[in-house]
Amino acid sequence: MLIFAIESSCDETACAIVKDGREVVANVVFSQIKTHSKFGGVVPEVAAREHLESIGSVIKETFEQAKISPDEIDAYASTAGPGLVGCLLVGLNAAKTLSLVHNKPYIPVNHLQAHVCANFIETDLEPPFMCLLVSGGHTQVIYVKDFDNQTIVASTIDDAVGEVYDKVARLMGLPYPGGIMLDKLAQEGNPNIFKLPEAKVGEDEFSFSGLKTALLRLVQSFNGKELPQKDICASFQERVSDTLIKKTLNLADKYNCKTIVTAGGVAANSELRKKLFALNERGYKTFAPQMKYCTDNAAMVASCAYFNPIKCDNPLEIEVFSRA
Ligand code: KG4
Ligand code: ZN
Repeated sequence: MLIFAIESSCDETACAIVKDGREVVANVVFSQIKTHSKFGGVVPEVAAREHLESIGSVIKETFEQAKISPDEIDAYASTAGPGLVGCLLVGLNAAKTLSLVHNKPYIPVNHLQAHVCANFIETDLEPPFMCLLVSGGHTQVIYVKDFDNQTIVASTIDDAVGEVYDKVARLMGLPYPGGIMLDKLAQEGNPNIFKLPEAKVGEDEFSFSGLKTALLRLVQSFNGKELPQKDICASFQERVSDTLIKKTLNLADKYNCKTIVTAGGVAANSELRKKLFALNERGYKTFAPQMKYCTDNAAMVASCAYFNPIKCDNPLEIEVFSRA
């Protein structure tokens, strides 16, 4: 089954064609980073306009890359939410139009579940598994009992990890998008120089606001003098990755689950991946999406349309939604 999918929930206009949920036939991502870096973050209205401008050419390029015609597609899918409403509308309307014109089904997809499904791309992963989902807007541990049976077993009570990465990066004067830059600097620093606090919350909760405040105080304590950027980044990254992996591991054990995966933009983080893959030596099976399928892309949306679509009677009546 060939699915053509569109992702436009935030600042990436992306299209992909995926066969049977795992085999990527074409994958095109047009990032708006350059536009938003001027503002230091994503401006929703500007993002929606950019999606409108680029969606046509991204669709065309995807078909060209795949060397197949729209009539050969079995179904058209798009992210319905959560995300920025104006942005989502562009992708949803384009996918619905393609489905109507070519007389094929339209499949709506949940963006968070799509991130989870990035782990199915070009792998043989099957449920059950525990998934640490870490993106710009969400931090959750999801118990994926079956393809269409998922339970959130832990989530953040304040900031999402990606959000904290971006805020801390800004605090340290790093350019947008901060997460990747912070990760790069952290790899060159000493993680043991600054001891940063770990939130004392329940086993089903994450909290990062205290860590964010600690970072602010640490930066202020240098009184405008040159910051030991690499060591601060490394210490921050160590605290975050350690907390995320420890908690996910505890939950995996609680659910007697021997397979642990990660997903979302922060799943591209070098230290998080290192700590996750290190669990292999302790008898766990671990997965993380290829780097290009961690941050927003449409291949994961196509995979999700195949394995775990949003249930609905009449897909053409589906509307976008902003919150999970
Ligand atoms: O999943 P995603 O592309 O968009 C959302 O659905 O939110 O995630 C974007 C987030 C941003 O906050 C970005 O800073 C973060 O992922 N990110 C990283 C890295 N690459 C992207 N955070 C830490 N380390 C990275 N290497
Ligand atoms: Zn995302």
